[in-house]
Amino acid sequence: MTDTQAVRSMLVGIGAYLPANVVSNTRLEAMVDTTDAWIRERTGITQRAIAAPLETTASLGAEAGRRALADAGMAPEDVELIVCATATPDQTFPATAALIQARLGIPVCIAFDVQAVCTGFVYAMAVADSMMKAGQARTALVIGAETFSRILDWSDRTTCVLFGDGAGAAVLRAVPESEAGGRGVLAHALRADGRQAGILHVRGGPSSGGGTGKLAMQGQAVFKQAVTNISEAIEAACARAGIAVADVDWFVPHQANRRILDGVARRLAIPEDKVVVTVDRHGNTSAASVPLAFAAARADGRIKPGDLVLLEAMGGGLTWGATLVRV
Ligand code: COA
Repeated sequence: MTDTQAVRSMLVGIGAYLPANVVSNTRLEAMVDTTDAWIRERTGITQRAIAAPLETTASLGAEAGRRALADAGMAPEDVELIVCATATPDQTFPATAALIQARLGIPVCIAFDVQAVCTGFVYAMAVADSMMKAGQARTALVIGAETFSRILDWSDRTTCVLFGDGAGAAVLRAVPESEAGGRGVLAHALRADGRQAGILHVRGGPSSGGGTGKLAMQGQAVFKQAVTNISEAIEAACARAGIAVADVDWFVPHQANRRILDGVARRLAIPEDKVVVTVDRHGNTSAASVPLAFAAARADGRIKPGDLVLLEAMGGGLTWGATLVRV
């Protein structure tokens, strides 16, 4: 395969890792002025995993990456590109991708982070796919890993009940287009609107002072735009691939809120049984939620080789987007 040959990025492995500490809504009732009934009714969430004190985004991401490589039957030496989507890096620098590289014993390669908050994994897939098509790498490890529990304001009941920790990873392998048999990453639609940064943000960071900061959100303002934005991105990615939304086998959405998932499904006339839902068990794990949901539907036998799978997300930025893959 030469650098100039047209290639497809095939999804050849998937891995997931959730911390062992599962916090139910009922347990949250003891910590926060909330109720299990309120959380279930407004979000569909019943529990979330929370990282142990010594677990970090890099440790969760490395474990998901290790599992994805094992699933693909590949060794650390095979990886030529690591893209880690995270909004909760271990350190200001180096990139979490480089920390994961060291943990997995991956030799010198390309490694960097992508910051698109909850849309991070969708962005990272597009970046990795584009670099592979440009001949920069033949095997990529694309990771979404987060420890949002570390940036939550546990005194703000409107946000702290919504999020959880975790990591998911995918292995992409470049193959000549002529050998792909119609499989692989088919199309992306990526969007951002920085004018809306203020409705979902963490005010903090190295350049603005004041430490890392805590998550703040105007929930209803985010909610109002979610269904429209996500639906538009899904339609755009499908149109770019020349595929009807109705022909998609599985929708693997970012798991923010059950009502958003239902709203998008209604708007695009997507049957409920085509939508992978894990928000009840995982909560909102930001960039990790799409690969975690993908891994769950692969593990239970729903997503099978040859299926057409649509990944979509929306998050802080605002950012939103969709990726279409035939697995
Ligand atoms: N437990 C109990 N009551 C709570 C609560 C909690 N955890 N959080 C808020 N409330 C209360 C509010 O104080 C308010 O009480 P009031 O009527 O006495 O003032 C009431 O519930 C309604 O609050 P509101 O914010 O209007 O609720 P909502 O129906 O908009 O639901 C969200 C809140 C956050 C669940 C909803 O706006 C949402 O899902 N937004 C999208 C967020 C999202 O997905 N973000 C991530 C994108 S990546």
